[in-house]
Amino acid sequence: MGQSATKTFGILTAGGDCPGLNAAIRGVCRAAHDRYNMTAVGIANGFRGLIDEDWRILRPVDFMGILTRGGTILGTSREKPFKARSREYNNDIGEDKVATIKENYRSLKLDCLVVLGGNGTNTTGYLLAREGLNVLGLPKTIDNDIIGTDRTFGFHSALSIATEAIDRLHSTAQSHSRVMIIELMGHKAGWLSLYAGVAGGGDIILIPEIPYDIKVIARHLEKRTASGRSFSIVVVAEGALSVEEARMEKKERKKYREQTVSPSIAYRLAREIEAETGLETRATVLGYTQRGGIPSASDRVLATSLGTEAANLLARGEYGKMVALQGDAIGAVDLSIPAGKVKTVPADHYMVDTAMAVGTCMGV
Ligand code: F6P
Repeated sequence: MGQSATKTFGILTAGGDCPGLNAAIRGVCRAAHDRYNMTAVGIANGFRGLIDEDWRILRPVDFMGILTRGGTILGTSREKPFKARSREYNNDIGEDKVATIKENYRSLKLDCLVVLGGNGTNTTGYLLAREGLNVLGLPKTIDNDIIGTDRTFGFHSALSIATEAIDRLHSTAQSHSRVMIIELMGHKAGWLSLYAGVAGGGDIILIPEIPYDIKVIARHLEKRTASGRSFSIVVVAEGALSVEEARMEKKERKKYREQTVSPSIAYRLAREIEAETGLETRATVLGYTQRGGIPSASDRVLATSLGTEAANLLARGEYGKMVALQGDAIGAVDLSIPAGKVKTVPADHYMVDTAMAVGTCMGV
C-alpha cells in the first residue's frame, strides 16, 4: 500500500468518542492529501483495527462533509494492546497484540501512525513509538485532562451541553424548591464540572481533586435556605469523593464506593444531603449526551488546527510527538509528556478561586 514518492499513514481514533473527532480526521487527511499528496489508511475501531486487520484507504470523498458530524467515522474502542500484552502474553494464554500491531504497521508500509485520543491512547502511542513505530498523537477528550496541551478538543462542546443542562435544571429546582444535583463525567479530573458549574451558576461544585465534607455542604445549603433562596444546584463530577474516602487506602476506598456509590455518586450525594438537611433533593446524570452531537465552533477550529499541524509534522518527518494548543499557538510536545499521566485541577487554580469568589461552595 505504501508509495515511494509520497507518504502513507494510518489514522485511528481510540477511547471514548467526542465531538470534534471527525473535524480532526478531516484536518489531518485534507492537509496531508491536498498539500502533501499523502495516502491515508483509516484504521477501524482504534487499535483493535490494527489487530483485526480492519482498515481501508481513505479517499477525499471519505473525509468530505464530516466537519460538523459527531462521533467518529472510523469507529473507536478501548482496546489497550499493552495491557493485554502483560496480562495474556506473559502468561502464555493469548496473542501478543503489540507484535500483531507492529507486523500490520509494517505490512501496510506505513510511514507513521496518527492516533486521536485521550491519555490512554497517547500513552499507547508513546509505547508504540518506543517499540520503533513512527507515531503522532492528537489530544481529544471531553475531560480536558491531557498534560502538554492547554485544551483538548471535545471539551468545549461538552461544556456547552453541560451548561445548557444546568440552565434547564434551574427552572424545575425553583418551581419545586428542591436541591437539584447534576452529575457530569470526569473520573479523575474535574475540569468539566468546574467550568460548567461556573458557567451555569452552580451553588455547589464537587470535583475529585477537592474531597467534600458533607457537613460543609449541608451548612451551605441551610444558609441559602435561611437567606430566602428556595432552591440549589449542585454540580458533581462522577469521581467526586468525600474527605473520609480520601483518607482511605485505595483498596478500602474501592470497596467502600462499591457499597455506597449506587447507582452513581449523584444518588449517594442526594441521600446524604436529604439525611443531613431534610431538603428535598433530586439527582440527574447527564451521561453520554455530553459526548454526543455536533462539535462547537471552538472545537471545530481546534480540531482542524491540530489536525493540519499533524499533517505538517508528518511531512517533515517529526514523529514521536503529540500536537498541542500552547497558549494561542499550535505546537507539539514529545509523546512522553502526556504518557501515563492525568492533568488534574490544581487546588490553587484560578477557576476554583473564581467559583468561590461568586459564592459557590467547593465542598470544603
Ligand atoms: O471520554 C472520557 C469519559 O468521558 C470519562 O469521563 C468517563 O468516565 C468515560 O469516558 C466513560 O466512557 P465509557 O463508558 O465509554 O468507557
